[in-house]
Formats: sequence, C-alpha cells, structure tokens
Amino acid sequence: MKQSLITQKNRKLRHLRELYPEINIQLLYRRDILRLLAKYGHGPLAVEPRGAERVLLTAQQIQQRVQELGEEITRDYQGQEIVLIGVLRGVVCFMADLMRHLDLPLQMEFLEISHYGVEGGPGAGGEVTVTRDVQAAVEGRSVLLVEDIVDTGMTLQFLLRHLWSKRPASVAVCTLLDKRVRRMHEVPIRYRGFEIPDEFVVGYGLDYQGLYRNLPHIGVLTPVEPKGKVLLPADT
Ligand code: IMP
Repeated sequence: MKQSLITQKNRKLRHLRELYPEINIQLLYRRDILRLLAKYGHGPLAVEPRGAERVLLTAQQIQQRVQELGEEITRDYQGQEIVLIGVLRGVVCFMADLMRHLDLPLQMEFLEISHYGVEGGPGAGGEVTVTRDVQAAVEGRSVLLVEDIVDTGMTLQFLLRHLWSKRPASVAVCTLLDKRVRRMHEVPIRYRGFEIPDEFVVGYGLDYQGLYRNLPHIGVLTPVEPKGKVLLPADT
C-alpha cells in the first residue's frame, strides 16, 4: 500500500505469475479491498441498508432500452431457436421484460448461483458455485445468457465456463448493466443495456442485502453513516 514499495511488489507479482501460470493473480490495492468489502455490506465504505437513493435510470429509460435490445436480438437470431438462460435472482425483472420483446421461438431456463469463500465476495476471490442448474439439454443449441449486472466479471467467467462444458452451439451474453471500470476478467458481452459508473445500484431486480428488488427504476445507494473501521490485511 506504500507507493515506494510498488516496484518491488510488481516484481513479486511477476514471479508469482511465472511460478503459477495457471492461476489468475490480481493485485488488490487498499481502495479495491474497501470497495469489495462494501459491496457485501462490510467496511468503512459500506452503506446502511436503508440509505437514501437517487435514481440512476428511470423505469422509462429501462423499458426503452430493453425494447431496443429485444429488437436487436430478434434481428440477430432470425430463423433460429434460442435457449434464454437467466441468472437468478437479480435477473427476474430484466428477463421477464426482455423475453416479451423477443419475436423468436425460445425456451426459458434459469441458473442459480451463490458466492462463498473469501470475505469480500466474488471479486475478492470467493468461489462461485451453481446451486440450481439449467434443466433443459443445451448441447448443440444457441444459448443467450442473461445477466443483471457484470462487475468484476468473475461470475460471468465462471458461468461461461460452466455453460460451454455442456457443448452448446453458441453462447452469447446479454447484460442489462455493465460496470466496465471494475472489470478484472475480460468477458465477452454481446448485448449491453447500459454502461454505468462504479456505484452500487439497486432496483429492477437488483438488491442490497435482499432489499430493493421491487423498485421499478435503478437507484444508487448512498451511505448514511460509516459502519466503522475495517482491518486490512498486512502489507506484505
Ligand atoms: P462480478 O462477479 O464481480 O461481476 O459480480 C457480479 C455479481 O455481483 C452480480 O451478479 C450481482 O449479484 C453483484 N453485484 C455487483 N454489483 C452490484 C450492484 O451494484 N448492485 C447489486 N448487485 C451487484
């Protein structure tokens, strides 16, 4: 975390990557750690669950964009049948609206996942696991994976690997929101509703500690009061 140690640290990182090329090693700075903690309700940047919120995307803006995405997908997949796979639970509103703008023969499927492991969640190296898999066979079929939000990209990377193991003919990704500035894993996104800044958003299916999913718009949670100091791992 000290600027003077950065060169040394990068050298160590290079060595680690040489020794373990099969492992994806990321250097997290203090700011990254605090943000990842905050995402799951911990640390000084965490917000209270009932914090004030401001509207980032109105219900009307969302509906308009979802319609455009639906039309684009319909054009791209003309003459094909697709399997629409939604990632529970944040995707419910988006999936329900999007599919009504798809003029294609389609089957609807859901995947449920959970994050566990390291405190700080997916981006901090916590594992992703499938708790409910798709029910239909997808081998040889065109899959459209529908996500609510892509943040670090870790969840999506895991999901793509999981889906490709089922040998579909193709897999494309459609996400409503893209927090591109936070990407740690490069993931292919074919359809993107909105690129949003690095803020924690709720509503239209997205939650904070289980709340806010029922908002018709997408809002930004603003901190009410800090939850106190957080202990960071030693700078080694
Ligand atoms: P990733 O693995 O870092 O890309 O994280 C993706 C998951 O983190 C999403 O599927 C969401 O469940 C959650 N997430 C990331 N950012 C937000 C947010 O701003 N609001 C609500 N959930 C979020």
